[in-house]
Amino acid sequence: MYSSPTTSSKSFRIGIICGSQRKPRVGDQITDFVYEILKLHSSSIRNTITLEFDYIDIGALSLPFYDEPGIPSKITSAEGYTHEHTRVWSRRVAALDAFVFVTPQYNWGVPGGLKNAIDLLYNEWKGKPAIIVSYGGHGGGKAAASLKLCLAGGIDMQIGDRMVVNLSFPNREVLYKAAKGEQLGLSATKDGGIWSSERKRISSACDEMVGMLMAQGAAKVALHASQKFNRIRLAFQK
Ligand SMILES: Cc1cc2nc3c(=O)[nH]c(=O)nc-3n(C[C@H](O)[C@H](O)[C@H](O)COP(=O)(O)O)c2cc1C
Repeated sequence: MYSSPTTSSKSFRIGIICGSQRKPRVGDQITDFVYEILKLHSSSIRNTITLEFDYIDIGALSLPFYDEPGIPSKITSAEGYTHEHTRVWSRRVAALDAFVFVTPQYNWGVPGGLKNAIDLLYNEWKGKPAIIVSYGGHGGGKAAASLKLCLAGGIDMQIGDRMVVNLSFPNREVLYKAAKGEQLGLSATKDGGIWSSERKRISSACDEMVGMLMAQGAAKVALHASQKFNRIRLAFQK
């Protein structure tokens, strides 16, 4: 059975996922932008909490389209998968506490490669907090809504009100640049550029995610304590 990689500790491992695998693409620039903001923000939050990041580029995973015979929700360890590539993916996701999905909007949905990577697993994602950062002409809100339905509704991941951020290309010129994969000049530190005023929404999403991780850790500690207490009580009753 999968267990959470971190229980009572205040060190959390965050998977930051670049959902676009197009060539050319701007998904990598936007994921880097989000990643830099999270790194800066995490160094400014309470010094008792550490966030470590695993940068996951869906394109670099080279996962084949769904080729497992089993149903992932019935599989409880990496060994339960038939293919080694799924086992490797399973172990990588199982080792993480929470995720940041950075996704473009393609025809009102998320890219097929991202959906495929999500669908290959289930229990490795289940119950964990997830931030969604979408982008597109109108912020990719349709893709974010569909991804939220899949993650929160289908897989029972935890997505709070502040944990969905839609980034709109400010004008057609930027949209055309993005389509060609050109540099958008994003900066996690300099003011005045594209989405500089959206940075605090990404930091706020991070705060809500950390709050969830802390609450989950506290709940696990309480559960372990009550299980230990019950074991001692039963031992005395014998
Ligand atoms: C297959 C495809 C479908 C798209 N559909 C939408 C869409 O529904 N809404 C939108 O605002 N932009 C849409 N776009 C434009 C993308 O927002 C833009 O090309 C962006 O650069 C895609 O992100 P990427 O470069 O990381 O792949 C679409 C682009 C592609 C390639």
